[in-house]
Amino acid sequence: MQQELSYPTDYNSEVRASTAELYKSVSKIIPEVEWPFHAPLIHEIKKLKKEKNATILTHNYQTPEIFHCVSDIVGDSLKLAYEARDSDADTIIVCGVHFMAETAKILSPNKKVLIPDMRAGCSLADSITAEDIRLLKQKYPGVPVVTYVNTSAEVKAETDVCCTSGNAKLVVESLNSDKVIFLPDEFLAQNIANQTDVKIISWKGRCEVHERFTAKEILAYKEQHENIVVLAHPECSPEVIEVSDFTGSTAGMNNYVKDNQPEKVIMVTECSMSDNVAIENPNVEFVRPCNLCPHMKRITLKKIYDALRFDQHEVTVNNQIIDKARLSIDRMLEIGRQK
Ligand code: 13P
Ligand code: SF4
Repeated sequence: MQQELSYPTDYNSEVRASTAELYKSVSKIIPEVEWPFHAPLIHEIKKLKKEKNATILTHNYQTPEIFHCVSDIVGDSLKLAYEARDSDADTIIVCGVHFMAETAKILSPNKKVLIPDMRAGCSLADSITAEDIRLLKQKYPGVPVVTYVNTSAEVKAETDVCCTSGNAKLVVESLNSDKVIFLPDEFLAQNIANQTDVKIISWKGRCEVHERFTAKEILAYKEQHENIVVLAHPECSPEVIEVSDFTGSTAGMNNYVKDNQPEKVIMVTECSMSDNVAIENPNVEFVRPCNLCPHMKRITLKKIYDALRFDQHEVTVNNQIIDKARLSIDRMLEIGRQK
């Protein structure tokens, strides 16, 4: 019979004192009645992190009690990649999805990389295999291959250069080629094609979260809320981007709000993003037509606690794949971020 796992639940004076300041910072989003459930886990996770010299890298789509309360580094896929490369921790825990943890392992092969739930996948990463890329290269000989980081390590190993939504156009144009194979996100590919003269050969992958937003829905929000600013992730369809005021990576959207302090904003992306940004921008009103990413939502405080105490679940990548995939990620990191 499987043994029942126990979790810290005692909201005692030590836990209360050590988490009081943290609670103040998230009280706008996390109701007071919920805090006694989160606080004991947060307290233990912080202790374990120190003991094990572990660092927690967290994507912008994680829930506020993870994003704001236990993370060492937060950001978009591009920032997490730089931080994974430069980290001096012994263990990296990625609170995000599997391709992000694999990228961390490729960039820091001598470190232990853990993901709290191995099943945290991504519909884009699942849409293409290394064999698909080999066939495309046969079909379009000599055409450079740009691959979105939302792919497996094996796919990255077949790629010339990776990109994220924070530098896709820059990467495409850096190749000085009149034609580029851009994989696997069909919408991101179309959105980049609309901004460049480079001919883009695309694939039929889609983000299951962003493909659900429609231009009709966004226009209805614009009609209901005068002067609302619409920020959309480039994994949305070109029709959605067309009716938006700004498009950028999750970090790009975050920076837009920070720098412009719009009165009212819609972030056309995953639900937790608005929660996290709202906490840091108390004067901005958020209207929320959000969709949940079921993969991101597999990560919880309990699973982070288990990852730390049991050193689970370790993400491994074959050494030959690491060597090849690393080249395509390093090229991307050299190119940097879109201004
Ligand atoms: P960012 O690189 O913009 O953080 O996006 C990652 C992602 O998975 C978006 O769906
Ligand atoms: Fe993948 Fe979309 Fe989830 Fe991002 S939001 S991890 S692209 S399924």
